[in-house]
Amino acid sequence: MRQRAELGSRALFDALETAVYANHASLSPPSRPVRDAVTSVLDGYARAGMAWYAEEVERRARLRRRLERLIGAREDSVGLVANTSAGVLDVALGLRWRRGDRILLFDGEFPTNVTPWQQAARRHGLELEWMAADDFRTDREAALARLAAELERGIRLVAVSAVQFTTGQRMPLAEMGELCRAHGAELFVDAIQAVGIVPLDVEALGIDYLVCGSHKWLMAPEGIGFLYVSPERADRLVPNMAAWLSHEDAFAFLTRAPGELRYDRPFRRGALMAEAGTPNTIGAAGLAASTALIDDMGVGAILEHVQAWHDALEPGLVERGFESARMEGAAGRSGILSVRPRDTSLSPAWVQALAGQGVACASPDGWIRFSPHWPNALDEPPRVLSAIDSIVERGGP
Ligand SMILES: Cc1ncc(COP(=O)(O)O)c(C=O)c1O
Repeated sequence: MRQRAELGSRALFDALETAVYANHASLSPPSRPVRDAVTSVLDGYARAGMAWYAEEVERRARLRRRLERLIGAREDSVGLVANTSAGVLDVALGLRWRRGDRILLFDGEFPTNVTPWQQAARRHGLELEWMAADDFRTDREAALARLAAELERGIRLVAVSAVQFTTGQRMPLAEMGELCRAHGAELFVDAIQAVGIVPLDVEALGIDYLVCGSHKWLMAPEGIGFLYVSPERADRLVPNMAAWLSHEDAFAFLTRAPGELRYDRPFRRGALMAEAGTPNTIGAAGLAASTALIDDMGVGAILEHVQAWHDALEPGLVERGFESARMEGAAGRSGILSVRPRDTSLSPAWVQALAGQGVACASPDGWIRFSPHWPNALDEPPRVLSAIDSIVERGGP
């Protein structure tokens, strides 16, 4: 029988020692069902070896369908990859570039969504253009106007994160998608800080490519993620990153009569081509279990719960002199609540001091980042504020 999850309850995280775990934007602890699912894979292989493989093929097929539903994608548009970086590389090095093509990147983004594009630029003679991600937080209309002007000058692809890992601001993907479509540019989205906490519909938003790792808001183990390629874009990816399982009917030479060992079978299309070699079955089983729990509660309800947690914490932080990065409107908010002290060089010390008080958070680039998820209870924010007060009483972090 499936164990059920409940908003605000840590019952499924019986091993978790940290009193207030608000660090899901870094890495999520595995729930009991995730740990059980991982164990069930190992137990299956321990009993049956190769004969268990088919079970996991089925499980991964069901997982792809579940992930497709989660992001509003059509069937066969999602492939399982090792992490966010692998998916960015698949697209950055897999597109048919023309010398001089221009890619628009955002200063302030996590390097995963920059380094692969820099490599593509070096290899293919592409030009990289830059905007500041934070401009969309501080002056959204002006930033959108600047984006339109960049697109006007001719951009082949815009690569952006759905949610900024530092401030938690949700980028205006609907507007960005519309602008991209109007100017014939493609939209690539790093969604690791969004999927599982922020509702996201690739078809409605006009996203061409999306990639997501699973150890944060999807609450699965590390080393598994997924790549989405819009069916309209599937033929734009060339097999630069392909290997044996990228082919159609890749198992034929292992299961049928001799004569099937060939190297010229057609490639699977789009995201499925990225599943190039023996998969991380253990990670996929964990991801199947964690996303089932998220589906049970619904991403909309989870986000609402997390916003209530943020609502309970943010005013107390501001009263204590921290500057909040939280967006005004709900459409700009995510699972991340970031604040910073006047002296931002103190942020890592604050995070360390809070860890000493049993509060787990993070300090990316000078922000103090709180990132609770569905198991976080609404009585936690006052405990965070008490921890801050006792750090101050002892002379600061
Ligand atoms: C926006 C963003 N992209 C990517 C990553 C990580 O990429 P990967 O899954 O390749 O480790 C992170 C955090 O670790 C992130 O915050």
